[in-house]
Amino acid sequence: MSENKKHRIGLGVCGGIAAYKAIEVLRLLQKSGCEVRVAMTKHATEFIQPLTFRALTDNYVLVDDYAPENPDPIAHINFSQTIDLLLIVPATANTIAKFANGIADDFLSSTYLASQAPVLIAPAMNSTMWEHPATQRNVERLKSDGVFFVKPIAGELACKTVGTGKLEDVENIVKQVLNFLVQSPKSKVQSLSEPIQHSETRTQDLKNESFLITVGGTREAIDPVRFISNHSSGKMGFAVAEAAQKRGAKVTIVCGVTSVEPLENVKTILGISADEMFQAVMKELPNATIFVGAAAVADYRPASRAAAKIKKSEDVLTLELTKTPDILANVSANRHDGLLVVGFAAETENVIEYARSKMERKNLDLIVANDITRDGAGFNHDTNIATILKRGSNEKIEIPLMAKREMADRILDEVVKLRHK
Ligand code: CTP
Repeated sequence: MSENKKHRIGLGVCGGIAAYKAIEVLRLLQKSGCEVRVAMTKHATEFIQPLTFRALTDNYVLVDDYAPENPDPIAHINFSQTIDLLLIVPATANTIAKFANGIADDFLSSTYLASQAPVLIAPAMNSTMWEHPATQRNVERLKSDGVFFVKPIAGELACKTVGTGKLEDVENIVKQVLNFLVQSPKSKVQSLSEPIQHSETRTQDLKNESFLITVGGTREAIDPVRFISNHSSGKMGFAVAEAAQKRGAKVTIVCGVTSVEPLENVKTILGISADEMFQAVMKELPNATIFVGAAAVADYRPASRAAAKIKKSEDVLTLELTKTPDILANVSANRHDGLLVVGFAAETENVIEYARSKMERKNLDLIVANDITRDGAGFNHDTNIATILKRGSNEKIEIPLMAKREMADRILDEVVKLRHK
Protein backbone atom coordinates (compact mmCIF):
# COMPACT_ATOMS: atom_id res chain seq x y z
CA MET A 1 0.00 0.00 0.00
CA SER A 2 1.33 3.41 -0.86
CA GLU A 3 2.05 5.85 1.98
CA ASN A 4 -0.65 8.17 0.67
CA LYS A 5 -3.50 5.69 0.60
CA LYS A 6 -6.12 5.46 3.30
CA HIS A 7 -6.31 2.46 5.60
CA ARG A 8 -8.67 -0.10 4.17
CA ILE A 9 -10.92 -1.88 6.62
CA GLY A 10 -13.08 -4.89 5.89
CA LEU A 11 -16.05 -4.58 8.25
CA GLY A 12 -17.81 -7.89 8.88
CA VAL A 13 -21.30 -7.60 10.36
CA CYS A 14 -22.98 -10.60 12.00
CA GLY A 15 -26.60 -11.24 12.90
CA GLY A 16 -27.43 -9.78 16.29
CA ILE A 17 -29.36 -6.89 17.78
CA ALA A 18 -26.13 -4.88 18.00
CA ALA A 19 -25.76 -5.04 14.20
CA TYR A 20 -27.20 -1.52 13.95
CA LYS A 21 -24.18 -0.23 15.88
CA ALA A 22 -21.96 -1.32 12.98
CA ILE A 23 -23.41 1.62 11.04
CA GLU A 24 -22.04 4.06 13.60
CA VAL A 25 -18.69 2.25 13.61
CA LEU A 26 -18.57 2.58 9.83
CA ARG A 27 -19.36 6.32 9.96
CA LEU A 28 -16.74 7.04 12.61
CA LEU A 29 -14.10 5.07 10.73
CA GLN A 30 -14.89 6.96 7.54
CA LYS A 31 -14.73 10.24 9.44
CA SER A 32 -11.30 9.21 10.67
CA GLY A 33 -10.03 8.78 7.15
CA CYS A 34 -10.48 5.02 6.67
CA GLU A 35 -11.88 3.37 3.58
CA VAL A 36 -14.38 0.71 4.62
CA ARG A 37 -15.95 -2.16 2.72
CA VAL A 38 -18.69 -4.22 4.29
CA ALA A 39 -19.42 -7.94 4.38
CA MET A 40 -22.48 -9.30 6.13
CA THR A 41 -23.63 -12.71 7.22
CA LYS A 42 -27.01 -13.78 5.96
CA HIS A 43 -28.51 -13.39 9.43
CA ALA A 44 -27.12 -9.85 9.71
CA THR A 45 -29.33 -8.92 6.77
CA GLU A 46 -32.35 -9.82 8.92
CA PHE A 47 -31.37 -6.92 11.18
CA ILE A 48 -30.10 -4.34 8.66
CA GLN A 49 -30.50 -4.08 4.92
CA PRO A 50 -27.27 -4.33 2.88
CA LEU A 51 -28.58 -1.23 1.09
CA THR A 52 -27.77 0.89 4.16
CA PHE A 53 -24.11 -0.06 3.99
CA ARG A 54 -24.09 0.15 0.23
CA ALA A 55 -25.35 3.72 0.34
CA LEU A 56 -22.82 4.68 3.00
CA THR A 57 -19.81 3.02 1.38
CA ASP A 58 -20.77 3.45 -2.25
CA ASN A 59 -19.77 -0.16 -2.73
CA TYR A 60 -21.41 -3.53 -3.27
CA VAL A 61 -22.04 -5.22 0.10
CA LEU A 62 -20.92 -8.83 0.14
CA VAL A 63 -23.19 -11.42 1.69
CA ASP A 64 -23.01 -14.39 -0.64
CA ASP A 65 -20.23 -15.18 -3.11
CA TYR A 66 -22.71 -17.07 -5.21
CA ALA A 67 -25.34 -14.36 -5.49
CA PRO A 68 -26.03 -13.71 -9.19
CA GLU A 69 -25.69 -9.94 -8.68
CA ASN A 70 -22.25 -10.27 -7.06
CA PRO A 71 -19.93 -8.39 -9.42
CA ASP A 72 -16.83 -10.33 -8.36
CA PRO A 73 -16.71 -14.12 -8.98
CA ILE A 74 -13.94 -14.66 -6.42
CA ALA A 75 -15.01 -11.98 -4.00
CA HIS A 76 -13.76 -13.63 -0.81
CA ILE A 77 -10.22 -13.74 -2.18
CA ASN A 78 -10.20 -10.23 -3.63
CA PHE A 79 -11.92 -8.71 -0.60
CA SER A 80 -9.69 -10.47 1.91
CA GLN A 81 -6.49 -9.50 0.15
CA THR A 82 -7.23 -5.83 -0.27
CA ILE A 83 -7.82 -4.90 3.37
CA ASP A 84 -5.43 -3.78 6.12
CA LEU A 85 -7.69 -4.95 8.93
CA LEU A 86 -10.64 -7.29 9.19
CA LEU A 87 -12.99 -5.91 11.85
CA ILE A 88 -16.02 -7.89 13.01
CA VAL A 89 -18.78 -5.83 14.66
CA PRO A 90 -20.79 -7.39 16.19
CA ALA A 91 -19.42 -10.93 16.27
CA THR A 92 -21.85 -13.67 17.27
CA ALA A 93 -20.95 -16.88 19.11
CA ASN A 94 -21.60 -18.72 15.84
CA THR A 95 -19.16 -16.68 13.76
CA ILE A 96 -16.52 -16.87 16.51
CA ALA A 97 -16.98 -20.66 16.57
CA LYS A 98 -16.63 -20.86 12.78
CA PHE A 99 -13.47 -18.73 12.74
CA ALA A 100 -11.96 -20.78 15.58
CA ASN A 101 -12.58 -24.01 13.71
CA GLY A 102 -11.75 -22.98 10.19
CA ILE A 103 -15.27 -23.44 8.90
CA ALA A 104 -15.77 -21.46 5.70
CA ASP A 105 -19.39 -21.91 4.76
CA ASP A 106 -20.29 -18.33 3.93
CA PHE A 107 -18.66 -15.20 2.58
CA LEU A 108 -17.47 -13.81 5.91
CA SER A 109 -15.97 -17.03 7.25
CA SER A 110 -14.28 -17.71 3.87
CA THR A 111 -12.86 -14.20 3.96
CA TYR A 112 -11.46 -14.81 7.43
CA LEU A 113 -9.60 -17.89 6.18
CA ALA A 114 -8.43 -16.21 3.00
CA SER A 115 -7.12 -13.06 4.68
CA GLN A 116 -3.66 -12.32 5.97
CA ALA A 117 -4.74 -9.01 7.48
CA PRO A 118 -4.90 -8.63 11.27
CA VAL A 119 -8.32 -9.42 12.72
CA LEU A 120 -10.12 -7.51 15.46
CA ILE A 121 -13.34 -9.00 16.82
CA ALA A 122 -15.95 -7.16 18.90
CA PRO A 123 -18.39 -9.77 20.22
CA ALA A 124 -21.95 -9.11 21.40
CA MET A 125 -24.29 -11.77 22.72
CA ASN A 126 -26.32 -12.92 25.67
CA SER A 127 -24.06 -13.32 28.72
CA THR A 128 -24.75 -17.05 29.12
CA MET A 129 -23.66 -17.60 25.52
CA TRP A 130 -20.56 -15.43 26.05
CA GLU A 131 -19.59 -17.21 29.25
CA HIS A 132 -20.30 -20.69 27.86
CA PRO A 133 -17.13 -22.81 27.97
CA ALA A 134 -17.49 -23.48 24.23
CA THR A 135 -17.44 -19.75 23.39
CA GLN A 136 -14.61 -19.04 25.82
CA ARG A 137 -12.64 -21.96 24.36
CA ASN A 138 -13.14 -20.56 20.86
CA VAL A 139 -12.08 -17.08 21.97
CA GLU A 140 -8.91 -18.46 23.56
CA ARG A 141 -8.15 -20.47 20.45
CA LEU A 142 -8.55 -17.41 18.24
CA LYS A 143 -6.35 -15.38 20.57
CA SER A 144 -3.66 -17.99 20.27
CA ASP A 145 -4.10 -17.78 16.48
CA GLY A 146 -3.24 -14.08 16.78
CA VAL A 147 -6.75 -12.61 16.64
CA PHE A 148 -7.45 -9.51 18.76
CA PHE A 149 -10.63 -8.90 20.72
CA VAL A 150 -12.50 -5.84 21.90
CA LYS A 151 -14.04 -7.48 24.93
CA PRO A 152 -17.80 -7.15 25.46
CA ILE A 153 -18.81 -5.09 28.46
CA ALA A 154 -21.27 -5.58 31.30
CA GLY A 155 -24.66 -3.94 31.10
CA GLU A 156 -28.30 -4.52 30.34
CA LEU A 157 -28.60 -6.81 27.32
CA ALA A 158 -31.28 -6.88 24.65
CA CYS A 159 -32.78 -9.91 26.39
CA LYS A 160 -33.30 -7.68 29.47
CA THR A 161 -30.78 -9.58 31.57
CA VAL A 162 -27.78 -7.83 33.05
CA GLY A 163 -24.35 -9.31 32.51
CA THR A 164 -21.30 -9.34 30.29
CA GLY A 165 -22.00 -9.61 26.59
CA LYS A 166 -22.88 -6.09 25.53
CA LEU A 167 -20.99 -4.70 22.57
CA GLU A 168 -18.24 -2.32 23.72
CA ASP A 169 -19.03 1.36 23.13
CA VAL A 170 -18.88 2.27 19.48
CA GLU A 171 -16.40 5.08 20.24
CA ASN A 172 -14.15 2.67 22.13
CA ILE A 173 -14.22 0.13 19.32
CA VAL A 174 -13.22 2.80 16.84
CA LYS A 175 -10.51 4.06 19.18
CA GLN A 176 -9.06 0.57 19.41
CA VAL A 177 -9.13 0.20 15.65
CA LEU A 178 -7.39 3.52 15.19
CA ASN A 179 -4.88 2.68 17.89
CA PHE A 180 -4.16 -0.51 16.06
CA LEU A 181 -3.68 1.32 12.79
CA VAL A 182 -1.68 4.29 14.09
CA GLN A 183 0.97 1.91 15.33
CA SER A 184 1.67 1.26 11.69
CA PRO A 185 4.23 3.70 10.23
CA LYS A 186 2.15 4.07 7.06
CA SER A 187 -0.68 5.57 9.07
CA LYS A 188 -2.82 8.27 7.52
CA VAL A 189 -5.54 7.96 10.15
CA GLN A 190 -6.95 11.14 11.62
CA SER A 191 -8.83 11.49 14.85
CA LEU A 192 -12.51 12.27 15.12
CA SER A 193 -11.95 15.86 16.17
CA GLU A 194 -8.28 16.37 16.86
CA PRO A 195 -5.10 14.29 16.74
CA ILE A 196 -5.59 11.08 18.65
CA GLN A 197 -3.47 10.85 21.70
CA HIS A 198 -4.35 7.91 23.90
CA SER A 199 -2.81 7.50 27.31
CA GLU A 200 -0.64 4.70 26.00
CA THR A 201 0.99 7.13 23.60
CA ARG A 202 0.89 10.12 25.93
CA THR A 203 4.10 10.47 27.87
CA GLN A 204 4.30 9.05 31.34
CA ASP A 205 3.45 12.53 32.60
CA LEU A 206 1.93 11.30 35.88
CA LYS A 207 4.68 8.93 36.88
CA ASN A 208 5.50 10.86 40.07
CA GLU A 209 1.89 11.07 41.22
CA SER A 210 -0.16 8.87 43.54
CA PHE A 211 -3.88 9.05 42.87
CA LEU A 212 -6.57 8.32 45.41
CA ILE A 213 -9.93 8.05 43.65
CA THR A 214 -13.42 7.44 45.04
CA VAL A 215 -15.59 5.48 42.62
CA GLY A 216 -19.24 4.36 42.42
CA GLY A 217 -22.25 5.01 44.58
CA THR A 218 -22.61 4.46 48.30
CA ARG A 219 -25.22 2.29 49.97
CA GLU A 220 -26.77 3.40 53.26
CA ALA A 221 -28.45 0.64 55.25
CA ILE A 222 -32.00 1.06 56.52
CA ASP A 223 -32.21 -2.43 57.99
CA PRO A 224 -30.45 -5.74 57.21
CA VAL A 225 -32.20 -6.04 53.82
CA ARG A 226 -32.82 -2.49 52.60
CA PHE A 227 -30.71 0.49 51.74
CA ILE A 228 -30.66 3.94 50.14
CA SER A 229 -28.42 4.30 47.10
CA ASN A 230 -28.13 5.99 43.69
CA HIS A 231 -27.58 5.20 40.02
CA SER A 232 -23.81 5.69 39.88
CA SER A 233 -22.14 3.05 37.67
CA GLY A 234 -18.53 3.84 38.59
CA LYS A 235 -17.59 4.14 34.90
CA MET A 236 -16.21 7.68 35.08
CA GLY A 237 -14.12 7.00 38.19
CA PHE A 238 -12.72 3.78 36.75
CA ALA A 239 -11.92 5.60 33.51
CA VAL A 240 -9.90 8.21 35.43
CA ALA A 241 -8.14 5.46 37.39
CA GLU A 242 -7.25 3.54 34.23
CA ALA A 243 -6.03 6.63 32.42
CA ALA A 244 -3.90 7.77 35.38
CA GLN A 245 -2.33 4.34 35.70
CA LYS A 246 -1.53 4.21 31.98
CA ARG A 247 0.19 7.58 32.33
CA GLY A 248 2.49 6.22 35.02
CA ALA A 249 0.69 7.14 38.25
CA LYS A 250 0.26 4.90 41.28
CA VAL A 251 -3.48 4.50 41.77
CA THR A 252 -5.62 3.53 44.75
CA ILE A 253 -9.38 3.28 44.39
CA VAL A 254 -11.87 3.47 47.22
CA CYS A 255 -14.81 1.73 45.69
CA GLY A 256 -18.49 1.88 46.57
CA VAL A 257 -21.16 0.04 44.61
CA THR A 258 -20.59 -0.13 40.85
CA SER A 259 -22.43 -1.77 38.00
CA VAL A 260 -19.26 -2.53 36.04
CA GLU A 261 -16.39 -4.86 36.84
CA PRO A 262 -13.68 -3.30 39.01
CA LEU A 263 -10.31 -2.75 37.36
CA GLU A 264 -7.75 -5.50 37.47
CA ASN A 265 -4.27 -4.64 38.77
CA VAL A 266 -5.36 -1.52 40.66
CA LYS A 267 -5.28 -1.39 44.45
CA THR A 268 -8.96 -1.27 45.44
CA ILE A 269 -10.38 -0.79 48.91
CA LEU A 270 -14.09 -1.19 49.55
CA GLY A 271 -16.03 1.68 51.07
CA ILE A 272 -19.66 0.72 50.60
CA SER A 273 -21.33 3.29 52.87
CA ALA A 274 -20.40 6.97 53.02
CA ASP A 275 -18.90 6.42 56.48
CA GLU A 276 -16.82 3.43 55.30
CA MET A 277 -15.68 5.36 52.24
CA PHE A 278 -14.75 8.33 54.41
CA GLN A 279 -12.69 6.14 56.82
CA ALA A 280 -10.87 4.42 53.96
CA VAL A 281 -10.09 7.74 52.23
CA MET A 282 -8.72 9.36 55.37
CA LYS A 283 -6.49 6.36 56.01
CA GLU A 284 -5.06 6.43 52.48
CA LEU A 285 -4.88 10.19 52.07
CA PRO A 286 -1.36 10.74 53.47
CA ASN A 287 0.04 8.64 50.59
CA ALA A 288 -1.80 10.58 47.87
CA THR A 289 -0.62 13.51 45.77
CA ILE A 290 -3.87 13.83 43.80
CA PHE A 291 -7.35 13.13 45.16
CA VAL A 292 -10.27 12.64 42.77
CA GLY A 293 -13.78 12.48 44.22
CA ALA A 294 -15.65 10.66 41.47
CA ALA A 295 -18.02 8.77 43.77
CA ALA A 296 -21.69 9.62 44.13
CA VAL A 297 -21.68 9.70 47.90
CA ALA A 298 -25.08 9.67 49.60
CA ASP A 299 -25.60 13.00 51.33
CA TYR A 300 -27.84 11.47 53.99
CA ARG A 301 -28.11 8.10 55.67
CA PRO A 302 -30.77 6.67 58.00
CA ALA A 303 -30.12 8.08 61.48
CA SER A 304 -30.19 4.55 62.84
CA ARG A 305 -30.03 1.15 61.17
CA ALA A 306 -32.77 -1.21 62.37
CA ALA A 307 -31.22 -4.41 63.75
CA ALA A 308 -34.07 -6.55 62.34
CA LYS A 309 -36.05 -6.32 59.11
CA ILE A 310 -38.66 -3.56 59.43
CA LYS A 311 -42.11 -5.12 59.22
CA LYS A 312 -44.93 -3.73 57.10
CA SER A 313 -47.12 -2.78 60.05
CA GLU A 314 -47.70 0.98 59.62
CA ASP A 315 -49.42 2.75 56.71
CA VAL A 316 -46.83 5.49 56.78
CA LEU A 317 -43.22 4.90 57.70
CA THR A 318 -41.01 7.88 58.42
CA LEU A 319 -37.27 7.53 58.11
CA GLU A 320 -35.08 9.97 59.93
CA LEU A 321 -31.99 10.84 57.91
CA THR A 322 -28.76 12.35 59.09
CA LYS A 323 -25.99 13.98 57.05
CA THR A 324 -23.03 11.87 55.97
CA PRO A 325 -19.48 13.25 56.08
CA ASP A 326 -18.58 15.25 52.98
CA ILE A 327 -15.49 13.29 51.95
CA LEU A 328 -14.26 15.78 49.38
CA ALA A 329 -14.63 18.77 51.70
CA ASN A 330 -12.81 16.88 54.46
CA VAL A 331 -9.98 15.93 52.13
CA SER A 332 -9.54 19.60 51.20
CA ALA A 333 -9.71 20.72 54.81
CA ASN A 334 -6.97 18.24 55.72
CA ARG A 335 -4.85 18.70 52.63
CA HIS A 336 -1.12 18.33 52.90
CA ASP A 337 1.35 20.32 50.82
CA GLY A 338 1.14 19.61 47.12
CA LEU A 339 -2.12 17.65 47.22
CA LEU A 340 -4.35 18.50 44.25
CA VAL A 341 -8.07 17.99 44.87
CA VAL A 342 -10.47 17.27 42.01
CA GLY A 343 -14.24 16.98 42.33
CA PHE A 344 -17.19 16.18 40.13
CA ALA A 345 -20.55 17.93 40.12
CA ALA A 346 -23.52 16.10 38.68
CA GLU A 347 -26.24 18.68 38.24
CA THR A 348 -29.65 18.93 36.62
CA GLU A 349 -29.91 22.76 36.50
CA ASN A 350 -27.69 25.85 36.85
CA VAL A 351 -24.80 23.50 36.13
CA ILE A 352 -21.91 25.96 35.94
CA GLU A 353 -23.13 28.16 38.77
CA TYR A 354 -23.63 25.22 41.15
CA ALA A 355 -20.35 23.60 40.14
CA ARG A 356 -18.41 26.83 40.69
CA SER A 357 -19.94 27.33 44.10
CA LYS A 358 -19.08 23.70 45.00
CA MET A 359 -15.51 24.27 43.90
CA GLU A 360 -15.26 27.32 46.14
CA ARG A 361 -17.11 25.83 49.10
CA LYS A 362 -15.07 22.62 49.05
CA ASN A 363 -11.85 24.45 48.20
CA LEU A 364 -11.09 22.38 45.07
CA ASP A 365 -8.40 22.86 42.44
CA LEU A 366 -10.60 21.61 39.63
CA ILE A 367 -14.19 20.52 39.18
CA VAL A 368 -15.78 18.54 36.37
CA ALA A 369 -19.36 19.67 35.89
CA ASN A 370 -21.92 17.43 34.22
CA ASP A 371 -25.44 18.21 33.19
CA ILE A 372 -26.84 14.73 33.70
CA THR A 373 -30.05 15.59 31.85
CA ARG A 374 -28.21 15.80 28.51
CA ASP A 375 -28.30 12.86 26.09
CA GLY A 376 -25.12 10.83 26.39
CA ALA A 377 -24.08 12.32 29.75
CA GLY A 378 -24.19 11.17 33.33
CA PHE A 379 -24.85 7.95 35.18
CA ASN A 380 -24.62 4.59 33.45
CA HIS A 381 -23.63 5.99 30.07
CA ASP A 382 -20.34 5.06 28.47
CA THR A 383 -20.08 8.61 27.20
CA ASN A 384 -20.16 11.95 28.92
CA ILE A 385 -20.30 15.70 28.26
CA ALA A 386 -18.65 18.06 30.72
CA THR A 387 -17.28 21.47 31.52
CA ILE A 388 -14.05 21.77 33.50
CA LEU A 389 -13.62 24.71 35.85
CA LYS A 390 -10.39 25.56 37.61
CA ARG A 391 -9.63 27.46 40.78
CA GLY A 392 -8.92 31.16 40.26
CA SER A 393 -9.87 31.15 36.60
CA ASN A 394 -12.98 32.16 34.71
CA GLU A 395 -12.10 29.78 31.91
CA LYS A 396 -14.70 27.13 31.06
CA ILE A 397 -13.20 24.15 29.29
CA GLU A 398 -15.97 22.48 27.33
CA ILE A 399 -15.57 18.76 26.69
CA PRO A 400 -18.00 17.59 24.01
CA LEU A 401 -19.69 14.18 23.90
CA MET A 402 -17.03 11.48 24.04
CA ALA A 403 -16.26 8.14 25.65
CA LYS A 404 -15.65 8.43 29.39
CA ARG A 405 -12.23 6.88 28.94
CA GLU A 406 -11.24 9.59 26.49
CA MET A 407 -12.72 12.25 28.74
CA ALA A 408 -10.62 10.90 31.61
CA ASP A 409 -7.51 11.77 29.62
CA ARG A 410 -8.82 15.29 28.93
CA ILE A 411 -9.41 15.80 32.66
CA LEU A 412 -5.92 14.51 33.44
CA ASP A 413 -4.43 16.85 30.84
CA GLU A 414 -5.87 19.75 32.87
CA VAL A 415 -4.58 18.23 36.11
CA VAL A 416 -1.09 18.02 34.62
CA LYS A 417 -1.31 21.70 33.59
CA LEU A 418 -2.32 22.64 37.14
CA ARG A 419 0.62 20.68 38.54
CA HIS A 420 3.04 22.63 36.36
CA LYS A 421 1.49 26.00 37.14
N1 CTP B 1 -18.86 14.27 47.68
C1 CTP B 1 -18.19 13.66 48.72
N2 CTP B 1 -18.84 13.32 49.86
C2 CTP B 1 -20.15 13.59 50.02
C3 CTP B 1 -20.86 14.22 48.95
C4 CTP B 1 -20.18 14.53 47.80
O1 CTP B 1 -16.98 13.40 48.59
N3 CTP B 1 -20.76 13.25 51.14
C5 CTP B 1 -18.11 14.66 46.47
C6 CTP B 1 -18.48 13.89 45.22
O2 CTP B 1 -17.63 12.76 45.06
C7 CTP B 1 -18.23 14.92 44.14
C8 CTP B 1 -18.53 16.25 44.82
O3 CTP B 1 -18.44 16.00 46.21
O4 CTP B 1 -16.89 14.97 43.73
C9 CTP B 1 -19.85 16.85 44.51
O5 CTP B 1 -20.87 15.91 44.76
P1 CTP B 1 -22.38 16.27 44.53
O6 CTP B 1 -23.24 15.12 44.95
O7 CTP B 1 -22.54 16.80 43.14
O8 CTP B 1 -22.58 17.51 45.49
P2 CTP B 1 -22.94 17.66 46.99
O9 CTP B 1 -21.80 18.28 47.70
O10 CTP B 1 -23.46 16.38 47.55
O11 CTP B 1 -24.11 18.74 46.91
P3 CTP B 1 -25.62 18.59 46.33
O12 CTP B 1 -26.02 17.15 46.56
O13 CTP B 1 -26.39 19.57 47.17
O14 CTP B 1 -25.57 18.97 44.89
